[in-house]
Amino acid sequence: MCGIVGYVGPKSTLDVLLGGLKRLEYRGYDSAGVSVIDAKVGLQTRKRAGKLGALIEELEQNPLQDAHIGIGHTRWATHGAPNDVNAHPHLGGDHHKLSLIHNGIIENFSELKAELLNQGVQFSSETDSEVAAHLIAREFEKTKDLTSAFRNVVNRLEGAFTLLCIHEDQPDLILAARRNSPLVIGLGEGENFLGSDVAAFVAHTKRAVSVGQDEIVELRKDSVKVTNFAGTEVALSEFTVDWDASAASKGGWPSFMAKEIADQPQAVGDTLMGRLRSDGSVKLKEFAGFDAISQIDRIIIIACGTAAYAGEVTKYALEKWAKIPTSVELAHEFRYRDPIVNEKTLVIAISQSGETMDTLMATRYAKEKGAKVLAICNTQGATLARESDAVLYTHAGPEVAVASTKAFTAQITAGQLVALSLAWLRSAMPAQQLKDVGQELLKLPRQIEQVLQQGKKVKELAIELKDAKSVLFLGRNVGFPIAMEGALKLKELAYIHAEGFAAGELKHGPIALIEQGQPVIVVVPSPKGEDSLHSKVVSNIQEIKARGARVIAVAEEGDAEVTKYADQVFFIPATHPYLAAQLSVVPLQIFASELASAKGLDVDQPRNLAKSVTVE
Ligand code: G6P
Repeated sequence: MCGIVGYVGPKSTLDVLLGGLKRLEYRGYDSAGVSVIDAKVGLQTRKRAGKLGALIEELEQNPLQDAHIGIGHTRWATHGAPNDVNAHPHLGGDHHKLSLIHNGIIENFSELKAELLNQGVQFSSETDSEVAAHLIAREFEKTKDLTSAFRNVVNRLEGAFTLLCIHEDQPDLILAARRNSPLVIGLGEGENFLGSDVAAFVAHTKRAVSVGQDEIVELRKDSVKVTNFAGTEVALSEFTVDWDASAASKGGWPSFMAKEIADQPQAVGDTLMGRLRSDGSVKLKEFAGFDAISQIDRIIIIACGTAAYAGEVTKYALEKWAKIPTSVELAHEFRYRDPIVNEKTLVIAISQSGETMDTLMATRYAKEKGAKVLAICNTQGATLARESDAVLYTHAGPEVAVASTKAFTAQITAGQLVALSLAWLRSAMPAQQLKDVGQELLKLPRQIEQVLQQGKKVKELAIELKDAKSVLFLGRNVGFPIAMEGALKLKELAYIHAEGFAAGELKHGPIALIEQGQPVIVVVPSPKGEDSLHSKVVSNIQEIKARGARVIAVAEEGDAEVTKYADQVFFIPATHPYLAAQLSVVPLQIFASELASAKGLDVDQPRNLAKSVTVE
């Protein structure tokens, strides 16, 4: 989950690398480093533990001669503590002429390291990555051909890796390889780029090429060649990035997360655009040619983290509207049991990044067993998108804050579009009822805007509760995954113990946690919901109130019952019961973000986390 950037061209390489690293910092921020090659000075490297700011300080104190080729890295530590020595780049060879950066885990590094130690190689770091630097450098000393040395070594590596490598003796060339870890090329005029994702270079070019599994890139300022690990050239599949650099900047907001919460009306609106007609009917062009979809008898949603909660919300719609049995599986659990999957199974893999290793591996496993795969993904050209039978892109735009917000509401919206589309295809519900839901979906962007207007009140509550030791969340139906998402946001951002429970489960255990003053945030279903769970949740509120809880409710406008018992209520506009998910989560996102800010924490880059988890 490290961020990787490479540049060769006439611009200031340091500017390009540091700008790219800034936009990739969401991937990891334990340390950062750069290497550049200047024709006269040779290879120069600077690296520092901590966020990018620490590297920038180091570069001010110890400037290097700017150059026209270089590589940069921002790290999320796996092997070796996050300190200066373990920071990338790693240098190889007796004269330290080779520099290498790595994202992923080299699983056979211990054997390779033992082999190198036997040959007298000295290691500076505890990382798995350094073995690759030494191996390539030694191989180059033998072959004098950097590309074949690089190819020989990557063929020996096991696990997940994106590697970028430069060598003082070949100062016009960046070599890159990828297996199970992301890499994208940016094509410029007289300059070329490499990045973990397009954010690394979108300020310079929108022309991009996805690098496939087990491929090697030879990047020069005026040429790009891609081969497979065996050396056979492969064709480039170019695409155009559909957002610009300003979408990935804070635009005056105090944090990316605050901006991304506020972006949600647009994220949901853009996800609906062109897919939902004004009469409320749905047709997904993404299903054209995906004939297998009409044969399926079961759906398994695979995802991790926030995306899995989006999957939980989607499950209600798939079963109710499309009448297809659906389960939601955490990707890392799914793959390591013996799940029942066959040709009639549709796997819906949900992932903002499309690079989450657990999700990718579970999806591949399901495919091997014959399942058809539909990806719901926010990142063009991502590995998940490329490996799936069909893709429904969420058009949330770049999400930079580590904790997911706008991608979440867009994922739920995309999931509901899939459910409606399948319901239309199978005539699972009367057309008018499906159109009615579609009409409600069309209102969502405007309704999210209305919820956002309560931000100030939510902030006041967050400041008041900033010293809380624990916050509980309750919900029923789609409110249950929303309660879990609210709790996850608070854990991730504010480091407060938080749990989300199904309100019906309260009496089976969690009620024992309630004591005087315990804050409980309750996501209340609509009083008009067809299964009317409303009165049951209002009873739960009374039960916890009687035991001293401080109750904060998220409820539908005009809900007089809840107002009687809750200490405070945040209102959401009336909508279809399932679509309330995208509205009721908004105050919970603002709450977590404001509480973390009130505690003086870094909202965009919480400790120990990374946005895109590309290791298992
Ligand atoms: C990480 C992030 C979460 C995210 C999850 C899945 O854990 O911190 O915010 O929900 O990965 O990411 P994906 O890109 O697959 O949606």
